[in-house]
Amino acid sequence: MCSKNLTERLDPNATGIARAASILREGGLVAVPTETVYGLAARADNAEAVAKIFSAKGRPDFNPLIVHVCDVEMAQRLAQWDERAAALAAQFWPGPLTIVLPAAEGTNIVPAIMAGLPTIALRCPAHRAMHALIEQAGVPLAAPSANRSGFVSPTSAAHVLETLEGRIDAVVDDGPTERGLESTIVALRDFRGAGGWQLLRPGPVTREQLVAVLGKDDAVTTQAIEAPGQLASHYAPGKPMRLGARHGEPDEFLIGFGNITGDCTLSASGNLEEAAARLYDCLHQAAADRLPRIAVAPVPSVGVGVAINDRLKRAAG
Ligand code: TXA
Ligand code: MG
Repeated sequence: MCSKNLTERLDPNATGIARAASILREGGLVAVPTETVYGLAARADNAEAVAKIFSAKGRPDFNPLIVHVCDVEMAQRLAQWDERAAALAAQFWPGPLTIVLPAAEGTNIVPAIMAGLPTIALRCPAHRAMHALIEQAGVPLAAPSANRSGFVSPTSAAHVLETLEGRIDAVVDDGPTERGLESTIVALRDFRGAGGWQLLRPGPVTREQLVAVLGKDDAVTTQAIEAPGQLASHYAPGKPMRLGARHGEPDEFLIGFGNITGDCTLSASGNLEEAAARLYDCLHQAAADRLPRIAVAPVPSVGVGVAINDRLKRAAG
C-alpha cells in the first residue's frame, strides 16, 4: 500500500504531542508550529535525523540550522554565554529572536547543523506545541522553516504540506502562526572586546529593540553571506513581482495594504503586525492564483515593516 508515503496529521493536544515526540526521539522529522513560522524539527544530536532535514527540504548543506531550546539552561550548555546573551534572553525569550554565539566545545550537537561555522544559532520559541516537544523529546531540536528550500515559508499546516507532503513523518496542526515572519537573527561578536553585534536578519524583534538592550551596533554591513540562507532567491513565489504598486494591472494578483485593497489584503487598517502575520499566506495565494504576475502595495518601513519589506525584496529579487 502507499500509506507509508503519507505525512501524519497530528493535533496539538497531549496525544498528538506525545506521538510527535516519539517520532522525534526515534530520529524522524516533524513539522511543528512556532509563533513565527512552522519549523521542520529533528533532534539536534542525531546525524541521520539532521541529514533528513537537508534532504527533505532540498537545502544546500552550507546553510546552517537554528537550534531550538526550551530554556536558558539548555542554551547555556550549547554556546558561550555572556551578559549580553543573558540580557537578550531575559527580554525576548521565549520569543522570535535567534542569537548567534560561539558554539561550546564538546557538545553532542551534530556538526552539520553549524555547516562548519564556529558559531551556533539558538532560539527559545514562544509556542506551546514547540515548547512541549522540546521538553518531551528531551533534547534541543534543529528546525528550519518547514518548506522546500527556496519556497515561501509556511504559516499553516496546509502550507507545509504544499511542498513537504510525503517527505516528512508528521505535521502538528495548530492553525495559523501568530507572528508570520521568521525570527530576528542577531550575532554577538567580539566576546572579550567592545561587544559588537550585528543584525543578520530583520524580524519581529526590531533593530530599535535590540539597540535598547545592547547599545548601538558596530554598524558593520557584511556583504559576505554571514547567514548563508539569506540568499536573494529566498521566499520566492515563482512569479514576477512588482513592489510599491498603487494599483494592479489586469494580469496581476494585487496584494493590498491600508486603503489599497487587493485580491488579498495584508491589513486594511494599516496594522503592520497584522500585515506580517498575513504576508506569507497572501504570497501562497498569489503563487497559486491563475494570474501570472504579482503586485504589492507599499508597506511603510517602520517597526516590523522593515522585516516585511526585507522579505518582499527577496521574494521579488
Ligand atoms: O523563526 C524562525 O527562525 C524559524 C522557526 C522555525 O524557528 N526558523 C527559520 O529557519 O527561519 P531557517 O532555516 O529558515 O533560517 C535560519 C537562518 C538561515 O538564514 C541561516 O543561515 C541562519 O539562520 N543561521 C543558522 N545558523 C547560523 C550561524 N551560526 N551563523 C549565522 N547564521 C546562521
Ligand atoms: Mg527558511
